[in-house]
Amino acid sequence: LVIVSTFVVNYLLNTIRILPLQASAQAQPIDRLFNLQFMLIAFFFSLIVVFLGYSLVVFRQRSKEGEEEGAYIKGSTGLEVVWTIIPIGIVIYLSYLGSLALAETRRVDPQAVEVKVVAGQWFWRFEYPQYGIVSNALYLPVNRQAHLRLTSLDVIHSFWVPEFRVKQDALPGENLERELRVTPTMIGEFKVRCAELCGTSHAYMESPVVVVSQADFEAWISEQLAAIGTDPATRGAKWAQTNGCLSCHSVDGSPGVGPTWKGLFGRTDHELADGSVVAVDEAYLKTAIVNPNAQIVKGFPANVMPGNYQSLLSEQQINDIIEYIKTLR
Ligand code: CUA
Repeated sequence: LVIVSTFVVNYLLNTIRILPLQASAQAQPIDRLFNLQFMLIAFFFSLIVVFLGYSLVVFRQRSKEGEEEGAYIKGSTGLEVVWTIIPIGIVIYLSYLGSLALAETRRVDPQAVEVKVVAGQWFWRFEYPQYGIVSNALYLPVNRQAHLRLTSLDVIHSFWVPEFRVKQDALPGENLERELRVTPTMIGEFKVRCAELCGTSHAYMESPVVVVSQADFEAWISEQLAAIGTDPATRGAKWAQTNGCLSCHSVDGSPGVGPTWKGLFGRTDHELADGSVVAVDEAYLKTAIVNPNAQIVKGFPANVMPGNYQSLLSEQQINDIIEYIKTLR
């Protein structure tokens, strides 16, 4: 009965599909281990429930007779040794399997695609140093390892694509880069979500993860390189997108965490929190980007915009973004 119910519990849980799609090579040892542990847990669950049920039925009180106290049992060295040794053996065996699985998920492939993952409140940015491009979507070629190096601009975030199984925190601070290796095995669109509570828009901190063939990956790279282009405003739109500006600033006048960029440039009635009224020109915008707390806008909180954009963006990129804002008059 215990064996039968072990299989029934497993069957039911597999039928309601407890795991998302398996879409990476690293997911395989993890799922194997998960399924094994699940089988073990189902067995012990069945063992307890079956014997509990058996005792309830067989040893129930049938009549008014036999109400005297049961015999007092004091210790059983044999039983205690058995129920200590068996769990210890299981735990040691599972740790051994766990260390094998861990080693397998960390295996290094020298042919890996390098991707620098930058997390910030509240966006993801993916840099491909081998190709010199940045993107808000993580494009990965199928069946080739990706070596992700994760950092954060502000607080702790966590890179999590459930279909890949592996997960890694992104920590702020120098020398705190963390790495993650993923070999996607399935072409398709997934989603990276932040798995560490990181502020107001934590729940919306997600970006597309697109797994494509090697040929499509190369086509995407060329497309990205071509898109950077020669027009400053077009480039600026791209930098604004890839550096998270548009997570807080709208370009269509709708409200956001920061002031909308629509109609911002050229305003002469821009009110600051200290009561002064300024004109929005290039110098104003530049200060707003490199030293946002120097001129807090009325109605918006201080210390929300990261103050490290100067180190993040080049002079050229800052000028490009200003050119882009100018087109939104
Ligand atoms: Cu980033 Cu939660």
